[in-house]
Amino acid sequence: MSLQRTLAIIKPDAMDAGHAGAIIARIHEEGFTVRGLRQLHLTQIQAEGFYAVHRGRPFFDELVQFMSRGPIIVLALEAEAAIDKWRDVIGATDPAKAAAGTIRKLYAASLGENAAHGSDAPETAAVEIGYFFPGCEVRPSI
Ligand code: CMP
Repeated sequence: MSLQRTLAIIKPDAMDAGHAGAIIARIHEEGFTVRGLRQLHLTQIQAEGFYAVHRGRPFFDELVQFMSRGPIIVLALEAEAAIDKWRDVIGATDPAKAAAGTIRKLYAASLGENAAHGSDAPETAAVEIGYFFPGCEVRPSI
């Protein structure tokens, strides 16, 4: 496995609860290199665009409302096998099923409000990083 990138999001629930600093510290402790970092407040349209793959699912409207209700922090992370590594650190999508010590077990309250996001595949990571870091904000090659 070679160097890889993934998109991480610190979601509005974790931002509201003041966990952003601890999550960013954890990112460094786990050995990721931060290639990009921005704080944003998504419009509903921007949240719909990011989660377009979920359009039509029963939870889509709830997800869009949640993701546009307050600020988020998006990060382009780099590491060996970054996609799986970050998904291991955040834990299962449903915090009730997340392993001890994972970000979702530590900080998330529910499946809908689950503190953090991680890309699920290299193709998705490329699209998601491009969504939030267009142009030359993150150097395209690794
Ligand atoms: P995330 O990893 O950001 O990717 C899609 C999000 O949809 C997921 O985290 C959850 O927050 C949300 N999600 C997935 N399934 C459900 C569900 N059944 N009900 C509510 N939200 C969900």
